[in-house]
Amino acid sequence: MKVNHGKRGTKTSSFGSPGRINHDATSFYASKLYEGLPKEEKVKYVENPVPSAFLDKIFCKSSERMDELPDNSIHLMVTSPPYNVGKEYDEDLTLERYREFLKAAWHEVCRVLVPGGRACINIANLGRKPYIPLHAFVVEDMLDLGFLMRGEIIWNKASSSSPSTAWGSWLSAANPTLRDIHEYILVFSKGTFARKRYSERDSTISREEFLEFTKSVWTFPAEQAKTVGHPAPFPVELPYRLIQLYSYEGDVVLDPFMGSGQAAIAAIKTKRHYVGYDINEEYVRLAERRIRRFSYVQGAPTLFDLIVKEGKEEFKAKRQG
Ligand SMILES: C[S@@+](CC[C@H](N)C(=O)[O-])C[C@H]1O[C@@H](n2cnc3c(N)ncnc32)[C@H](O)[C@@H]1O
Repeated sequence: MKVNHGKRGTKTSSFGSPGRINHDATSFYASKLYEGLPKEEKVKYVENPVPSAFLDKIFCKSSERMDELPDNSIHLMVTSPPYNVGKEYDEDLTLERYREFLKAAWHEVCRVLVPGGRACINIANLGRKPYIPLHAFVVEDMLDLGFLMRGEIIWNKASSSSPSTAWGSWLSAANPTLRDIHEYILVFSKGTFARKRYSERDSTISREEFLEFTKSVWTFPAEQAKTVGHPAPFPVELPYRLIQLYSYEGDVVLDPFMGSGQAAIAAIKTKRHYVGYDINEEYVRLAERRIRRFSYVQGAPTLFDLIVKEGKEEFKAKRQG
């Protein structure tokens, strides 16, 4: 009998398989492990435009209702929610009530995302006695809303994380405490994993970025609250990476908890549109100021542009002369 070594992929073996290319995982995905989890749907792609009056704007109101945004109009959501830990913008909610509040915002995010649109949530865990695994609760709530989970990125803040000395019992097993130097970025999709290129929009990610950003551990420094003027900003690098990896040029990026405007700055930097929400008027003004300043600097010619322009003018003058 002729053995066909043709196109059959490897199968998941009991001891794992080194053959990852063309791996046939059908039986794995059909296993009982996946019962009860949200499944990918066959949905027709629909996209409604955000009214131009609402594009590249930050609304000073709660993102529990985002009436300005039509259903299926946002391509990517990137955010870091309020932590309910007594920062000046936080309320003192019970864990249950806090989850309900966030869930209302996630529900709205689900409504406004296009099919296949991505939702990325940056979150840190809290406390020690006991530890509150907020990220686990957010995952549970997002799955409950029907989001498909794409994965989880560990953001290693390394030496930039505040050098806490709360190590519990020093050099003793009596009660040593873990000091988190990481945060999470939880990544979800609405309805379907793939989002095909729509109309003429292009990906803008470089080869080097793609190789780096598809790894599940990201290492870059945190942002200084003082420098930005907001108590809990994430660095522009964080939304920048997510925008490059998960959206096309010209797409619309939403941050329902916009704070100092870092996600909007990353959107402008990558030639995407943005929409944001924040309940604090002072932060909305801060974000608008920072966005204006960034757009001005971004639009201004660099020294290199000026030299090239001067060179061209000189060349033109010589040719005409
Ligand atoms: C962790 S901060 C976000 C910081 C932001 N990523 C940045 O880089 O500046 C959370 C923000 O959510 C805002 N906020 C709190 N409750 C809100 C609500 N119901 N709707 C919209 N924004 C809210 C706070 O004012 C705060 O600016």
